[in-house]
Amino acid sequence: MIEIDSVRKVYNEDVVAVGDVSLTIEEGDFVSVLGPSGCGKSTLLFMLGGFIEPTSGTITVNGEQVTSPDPSRGMVFQESVLFPWMTIKENITWGMKVLGVGEEEREREAEEYIEMIGLSGFEDAYPNSLSGGMKQRAAMARVLAVNPSVLLMDEPFGALDAQTREMMQHELLDIWSQTGQTCMFVTHSIDEALYLSDKIVVLSSRPSSVESIIDVSEHFERPRESDIRETETFTELRQQLWGMIQEEVTV
Ligand SMILES: Nc1ncnc2c1ncn2[C@@H]1O[C@H](COP(=O)(O)OP(=O)(O)O)[C@@H](O)[C@H]1O
Ligand SMILES: [Mg+2]
Repeated sequence: MIEIDSVRKVYNEDVVAVGDVSLTIEEGDFVSVLGPSGCGKSTLLFMLGGFIEPTSGTITVNGEQVTSPDPSRGMVFQESVLFPWMTIKENITWGMKVLGVGEEEREREAEEYIEMIGLSGFEDAYPNSLSGGMKQRAAMARVLAVNPSVLLMDEPFGALDAQTREMMQHELLDIWSQTGQTCMFVTHSIDEALYLSDKIVVLSSRPSSVESIIDVSEHFERPRESDIRETETFTELRQQLWGMIQEEVTV
């Protein structure tokens, strides 16, 4: 589904943001990317989105090389990017409108996603009047509404308080289980990666390459219960991952 082949990104001729990353992601998988700060996680995600071109190497999605952004690859960032002058519903239907989806279908889809994301009753509210968590949910609904086959998320819950964050993680899994999208999720929270993912890709520090891939789905079934965080296996995996990232930071 996603094939990242020897991808390298050098900024300004001397900042090697991504050293040499090769990775295959299966259709429908939830994959998290962990790694020390500055190791090129965002850069990698932006290249997958088609917003930045690799210096060398190729990225193919569904057999097609990524060369520019495409609605089939939706992106969600830490700072939600809603238009402040549009209502929640207008924000959510905007992408569909740009894609030429008719009004009736836009309305129907918007309703569906507003419901899915738990924002019923806030259709006509403006982003300003919503909490951080609600805004982030609306931003997610806006991306989901164009029905991307790949969902790229860059620390989407990084700005939320711990409680809202856990709730959002749970909701994201809920939505993902309904849509079957392939997800690539960048985070620097080990617990978040463990709770959400089928696989965790650990990147080394700059110049980054794939340090290790942990198969979480081997250990935890779906749907995930939040109390898996309390299990011994979770603690062991957390320690294992922590060790890897620590090593990367100190070496
Ligand atoms: N537009 C840019 N121009 C120059 N250097 C950049 C640019 N974007 C990121 N970098 C550098 O590339 C490296 C990787 O950045 P980034 O992908 O944001 O890492 P991460 O998301 O893992 O923290 C960092 O050293 C960062 O300073
Ligand atoms: Mg980043």
